[in-house]
Amino acid sequence: MRVGILTAGGDCPGLNATIRGVVKAIYQKMDNVEIVGIVDGFKGLIEGEYHEMKPSDFWGILTRGGTILGTARTPYKQMKVVENDVDKVARMKQNYKKMKLDCLLTLGGNGTHKTANLLAQEGLNVIGLPKTIDNDLWGTDVTFGFHTAVDIGTEVVDRVHTTASSHKRVMVIEVMGNKAGWLTLYTGLAGGADVILIPEIPYDIRAVIRAVEKRAAAGRGFSIVCVAEGAMNTAEAKMKKKERAQYRAEQGISTATNRIAREIGETSFETRTVVPGHFARGGAPSAYDRVLASQFGAYAANLVSQGIFGVTVAMRNNAVVHNPLSEVAGKTKLVPPDHQIVLTARQLGIAFGDEL
Ligand code: F6P
Repeated sequence: MRVGILTAGGDCPGLNATIRGVVKAIYQKMDNVEIVGIVDGFKGLIEGEYHEMKPSDFWGILTRGGTILGTARTPYKQMKVVENDVDKVARMKQNYKKMKLDCLLTLGGNGTHKTANLLAQEGLNVIGLPKTIDNDLWGTDVTFGFHTAVDIGTEVVDRVHTTASSHKRVMVIEVMGNKAGWLTLYTGLAGGADVILIPEIPYDIRAVIRAVEKRAAAGRGFSIVCVAEGAMNTAEAKMKKKERAQYRAEQGISTATNRIAREIGETSFETRTVVPGHFARGGAPSAYDRVLASQFGAYAANLVSQGIFGVTVAMRNNAVVHNPLSEVAGKTKLVPPDHQIVLTARQLGIAFGDEL
């Protein structure tokens, strides 16, 4: 049996741990199995770039950040577009055959799952594994990479906290996550933020400033504001994505974070912006993610040995399960504004910028 593996989209902690989990369990369970590592995600499948892997290629990778296979962003939208006479879908099917694969494991987030579903519909034996620091994949309570990113973000907030408190400043920290605010929500709550702004709950800057002022009036001269990359104010929330981008370009607004920091800074508060950015995606996975990666990997190995394809691995109510790719593809798991963690944060007095 020949099993192809690829990692696609943005890298994140836990990719290698998951690859190791799958492969170790496959080697334990099945005889005469060969692992084919496809280079740089779907790009490698389109271009026919791959390595036949040996067991020793997977040694010592549990703690290694990034992905040993390499990755690339190959947007789903372009998959069906023929470029330079290359029909990408046809190429992927041809290369799958050329590599003599019996199945293909795709480790990735939302975009990856859309392409994985497309390939499954084209008749390939595909199994998805849920990766993303954004935790926004439909059908799973958690994705690998998310909790490591929360840990990293929390450490950032902890460290920034001491400067905020010493200087009595408002520190505005941008957390990754363009569509979904999970990472900002968890990081903010874990780091003891005073304001959390996420795309799912549009903010009014007056409410943000009021929250900061309220703290100052109570003798807390500093505040921590955690802002998701994709945060938007109530006016922008009414616009379509393109309209919003155009509006920001016209207004000279680079990011929501910068605008929020400027607007708070225009009051009496000294303000600084911190953008940890890709820090959240780098380095070793946390213990939680190593365990999750191992669980997901072992489960995927079972799917391979049972010949169950066209599905993606998921965690639901503390049990590893699988969902049909067709049910997951194209759906984003956003933070419900009445999610229990949002309510908990509100109970603790954390502002979401929506209460005037
Ligand atoms: O999807 C993961 C993510 O880290 C998002 O949170 C972020 O918006 C995006 O990827 C950044 O992508 P890139 O690394 O391609 O700039």
